[in-house]
Amino acid sequence: MKMPDNTIKAVKDYFKSELISFYDEAEIIAMYYVLMQHYFQLSKSQLVLSDKKRLSESDLLKIIYAVKDLKKNKPLAYILGEWEFFGLPFKVNEHTLIPRPETEELVQLILDENQGEINLLDIGAGTGCIPISLKKQMKNWKVSGLDISNEALDIAQYNAHLNDVEVTFFQYDILQNRNAHLDVKLDVIVSNPPYIPEADKDQMNTNVLNYEPHLALFVANNKPLLFYDVISEFAINNLNKGGKLYFEIHEKYGKEVVDILVQKGFENVKLMKDINEKDRIVKAVLN
Ligand SMILES: C[S@@+](CC[C@H](N)C(=O)[O-])C[C@H]1O[C@@H](n2cnc3c(N)ncnc32)[C@H](O)[C@@H]1O
Repeated sequence: MKMPDNTIKAVKDYFKSELISFYDEAEIIAMYYVLMQHYFQLSKSQLVLSDKKRLSESDLLKIIYAVKDLKKNKPLAYILGEWEFFGLPFKVNEHTLIPRPETEELVQLILDENQGEINLLDIGAGTGCIPISLKKQMKNWKVSGLDISNEALDIAQYNAHLNDVEVTFFQYDILQNRNAHLDVKLDVIVSNPPYIPEADKDQMNTNVLNYEPHLALFVANNKPLLFYDVISEFAINNLNKGGKLYFEIHEKYGKEVVDILVQKGFENVKLMKDINEKDRIVKAVLN
C-alpha cells in the first residue's frame, strides 16, 4: 500500500491522483470534501485554510481505505454508512437501497397533496426514508412502513430513532398478501417497489449491481409489473374511500402502470415526470 504524506494538501493530491482514472475530477473533489467532512468534521473552507495541517496515522488510514473502496466502485453512501435524504441523515448498508433524489420528489408530492390526519403506509420501506421524512414534517400523521427484509427493517427502525420520529415498521411479504385486509383502513399508500427487469442487469453500472441489494432492485423479466399489480389489489382492500395510492415507477413502464390502475377501477390516475423529465410517479384515487 502506498502511504501518502499526511499533510492535508498531500492527502488531497493523493486522493486525486489515485482516483483520476476511475472518476472525473469534479466528482473526485466532491467526494473528497464529503469524506473529509464526514470523517473529520472539516468543512471545505477549513480544508482550504489548513493545507499544512497533518492527519494522524489512523485518520490517514480511513482515507486510504476509502480510496481502495472507491476504486472498486463502491458507492460513497456505503463507504460513509450514511446518506442524506430530504435534508435528513439516513443510515444505509448492504441490505438497503441508497435513497435517491427522485424519491424526494415523491415525498414532496405527498406532502403537497395531503392535509389533516392521515394514516399512511409505505410498502417496501428499505431505509425508511419515505415514511420517516413524511413523519418528520407531519407530526399528526400516523405513519408505518413494511418490508420483506428484516435486515432493512432494523436499519429503518434505527433511522426513525436517529431522526426522532415514531414510525411503525413491520415485516411483511406483500406478494403473499395481495388479498389481505389490515385491521385499520389507510388514507395513503405509497410504494417504490423493486422494478428493474433482470434483463437490464447487463446495462447497469457495477456500483449499483455489485453493491445494492438485488431484493430491492429486480423483478423477473416476464413479470416486471408484478408489484404494481399486487399493491394496487392490496390498496383496493385497505384504502378508505377517497384514499390515494402513489407509486414510483420505472421510466419505461408509465403507461402500463396507469393501465393497471385504470383497469382496477382507480380514478384520477396521473403519470408524472421527475426533474429529469422522465416518467417517474403514478398516482391514483380510490373512490
Ligand atoms: C426499490 S426499494 C425501495 C426502498 C425505499 N422505499 C426507497 O425508496 O429508497 C424496494 C424495497 O422493497 C422491499 N421488498 C422486496 N420484495 C418485497 C416483498 N415481497 N414484500 C415487501 N417488501 C419487499 C425491498 O427489501 C426494498 O427495501
